[in-house]
Amino acid sequence: MISENMEKALNHQISLEAYASQYYLAMASWCDREGMEGAAQFLHFQSIEEREHMMRIFHYLSEVDGFAITPSIPQPPLTFKSIQEVFELVYEHEKKVTHSINDLVGICYKENDYNTLNFLQWYVEEQREEENQARTILDKIKLIGTGDQSLYFIDKEMNKFLAAAQAADAAENDTNA
Ligand code: FEO
Repeated sequence: MISENMEKALNHQISLEAYASQYYLAMASWCDREGMEGAAQFLHFQSIEEREHMMRIFHYLSEVDGFAITPSIPQPPLTFKSIQEVFELVYEHEKKVTHSINDLVGICYKENDYNTLNFLQWYVEEQREEENQARTILDKIKLIGTGDQSLYFIDKEMNKFLAAAQAADAAENDTNA
């Protein structure tokens, strides 16, 4: 059994994860149109990951006799000024998600809800990784700069970030198997 307050807070988190999924999908589409295939593939992968984050909470709510609400999702932006802006926005959104996860952890302590606290440990770890990933990509983009072939080199780097994210995901799935 879960409190009404916690159920509401987890449903809010569902909507944040769902928005992240659509947001990153819109970014992937823009990158694709701009010819940055590596960045597009990376963002497609992240979009799917965010949906999985949402679904984990969905299933958790069902497990604890809560009601998972399918969220309506605001229209994300469809165009961006630059690849740097894309990853600045990813980083900002990840920080917002981290803030929200921390708020959820705070509610767990307030309500002595140790089941949910335990469930949220995975998200605490995931947010540390995702914030770090977004910041590292941003640093790399800034390092490469805006010279003639910078977009080509940034896109090549994105293939490496995608490979690393896929490897981390596969390792986690192996651990859980
Ligand atoms: Fe699920 Fe990247 O926050």
